[in-house]
Amino acid sequence: MAGASYLKDLWYVAGWSSDLAPGERVGRTFLDQQVVLWRSADGVVSALEDRCIHRAMPLSAGVVDGAVIRCPYHGLEFGGNGRCTRIPAQDRVPDTARIRAYPLVERQGLLWIWMGDAHRADPALVPDYPIHEDPVYAWRSAHFPVNGNWQLLVDNLMDLSHLPYIHANTIGGNPELHFSTRTRSEKLPNGVRVVRHMPDSVPPPTYVDAAGFTGRIDRWQEIEFEPLLIRIHTGACDAGTGAFEGRRDHGFSMRGFHGITPETETTTHYFWSMATNILDNGVPDEVFEQTARTFREDQEVLELQQLRISADPGHAMIDIASDVGGRHTRQLIARLQNEEMSGALESR
Ligand code: FES
Ligand SMILES: [Fe+2]
Repeated sequence: MAGASYLKDLWYVAGWSSDLAPGERVGRTFLDQQVVLWRSADGVVSALEDRCIHRAMPLSAGVVDGAVIRCPYHGLEFGGNGRCTRIPAQDRVPDTARIRAYPLVERQGLLWIWMGDAHRADPALVPDYPIHEDPVYAWRSAHFPVNGNWQLLVDNLMDLSHLPYIHANTIGGNPELHFSTRTRSEKLPNGVRVVRHMPDSVPPPTYVDAAGFTGRIDRWQEIEFEPLLIRIHTGACDAGTGAFEGRRDHGFSMRGFHGITPETETTTHYFWSMATNILDNGVPDEVFEQTARTFREDQEVLELQQLRISADPGHAMIDIASDVGGRHTRQLIARLQNEEMSGALESR
């Protein structure tokens, strides 16, 4: 993990649509670059370098006025394309008065940003997440700052065998169950899929609270990684009622969206949402609260790991059987990084 290396040519989650009302702006760092996100009065979200071209004042300290963002220092104004549209003390606006604009797409409640070469930013490649628009589900979203490298968060989500230890009081379940469950990991063309099935098992506390299971359950955990997000479908049906043959509508489903955006080498934006198919009795709120509690437990773990890693970045680590999914993601990311690097060299 030495040296900050990021995949750049990707759509990353920059935030939630709900983060910005018209006229609002926020400064965030992605991949070591400072960005200001802002929504114009008519609702269009833009992403610009968060540094005025005049004297380096952060534009995120300024104000949005109609279709421009104004620097708070000497009043230069910039449009969503990064071009300065007005310099108060002069008539002419030179061509050099512009700042970097990042491609940004708003879709399905998410803001997606492209941090790499803008010429390669194809909106058709924005990841699809139809759950956010599916009336079967109710969802809530959050943004957690994580004091740990992004790969630690990927590892955490790809290897759910930590559940009985870190999350015993929420989504855990007993350790023997988790370790007797085989983790199958499959490589996809641009991703990794991990499946764990736990037939005829005892429901964990969250499942009992939300869905009122009284007996044993057939439980699934299906995890799909694509750079750099993870979709996790977990849930259960009463044991023996067809969950593993695809009959799940009568059961309890939790759909987790996990957008992982590196902030710096040692910090990460974690944008997640949790959707459930039980909409009444306050279940979506209750599940969200329990999930948030669960993820705060992960946040603490990642922070502790990062302290040790930062103290000795070259120290050896080993893999165990349940790391198979995480290992596949590392292989895929390494391949994509090589491709990006060789592409960059070719185009020089
Ligand atoms: S620093 Fe932005 S207008 Fe002067
Ligand atoms: Fe966890």
